Amino acid sequence: MTYSEALDFAAGQVRSLIERHPGFYPMYTHQGRWKHDLPAWTHWCDGFLPGIMWILLARGDHSWREPAIRYTRPLEPRQFDRDVHDLGFIFMSTYRRWLDLEPDPALDAVLVQAGRTLALRFREKGRYLCSFAAEDSLFIDIMMNVGIVFHAARRAGDQRLHDIAIQHCLTTRRVLVRADGSTAHEGIFDPETGEFIRQTSQQGFRGDSCWSRGLAWALYGFHTAYRYTNDPRFLRTAEACADFYMEQSCPVPPWDYDAPLESRRQVDTSAAAIAASGLLQLGYTNYARTILDALCRDHVGGTEGILNHGVYHIHKGLGVNESVMWGDYFFVEALALAEAAK
Ligand code: GLY
Repeated sequence: MTYSEALDFAAGQVRSLIERHPGFYPMYTHQGRWKHDLPAWTHWCDGFLPGIMWILLARGDHSWREPAIRYTRPLEPRQFDRDVHDLGFIFMSTYRRWLDLEPDPALDAVLVQAGRTLALRFREKGRYLCSFAAEDSLFIDIMMNVGIVFHAARRAGDQRLHDIAIQHCLTTRRVLVRADGSTAHEGIFDPETGEFIRQTSQQGFRGDSCWSRGLAWALYGFHTAYRYTNDPRFLRTAEACADFYMEQSCPVPPWDYDAPLESRRQVDTSAAAIAASGLLQLGYTNYARTILDALCRDHVGGTEGILNHGVYHIHKGLGVNESVMWGDYFFVEALALAEAAK
């Protein structure tokens, strides 16, 4: 399947989804179907479905404008949501894309508020944005969300917000990115002193392993931090994560690089899609295309989603070897970037 055929397939799958289940924001499929009663664990995915529509609209298909707005507007109250660390995922995929296409101060105001809300998670002791799990917890995933704090700082001219975002990135770099460019999923701090205690994991194999999606989040997220700051430390970190990813010679990686052999047969295509998009933005075009070629060849279709064989939470048995909404979103983003670069 070519990239343009994959994008056409993606558009068809999204059209079927919104016709079959109007107003529904899916997260992961179960037995190939988006609609089921299994738990979310945490609510971080609602931006990805409209985000795909904004990408398809930006490619020139104006029929996506109305549904993109219809699925984006209901997210607006979440600019005040203090229960998640995912406001970047929710708003940079939607309001930011909308703003880029149609500048409007009201859209900007939503993004600035979402950035301010996320910044409330900053722990002075430890100097990080804490995860939804607990105040003493830092997730690598938050590197994908700190961009909205940088964005808000820039738009509002707020130096304190900018400093918070910088401190979060420096702490994440220090405690979750290892010397070989691999990453830990979670760090635990002493809440009294702010001292870093240990690496651990929620979704990876264990604390000293490398969960492939976390690595992809880091690769992409540190490059975003570099784009907002021009700080070469963040570029070097993104490149170290990219080098680790490419050195494994697994374009579509196992869900965790250090899981036992049998378990490693389970790939996570969402990690591959995120990495492909991040690598394209870093300028590693050849390897990004190697990933996209593998995804288009072996992993498109077979569910109600776009990309098959993703993993959400292997330990909880949620979305294992299924389509996951963020995998679909970053796959479409990467395909559109690759197409535009031609
Ligand atoms: N919570 C983000 C992820 O599952 O990667």
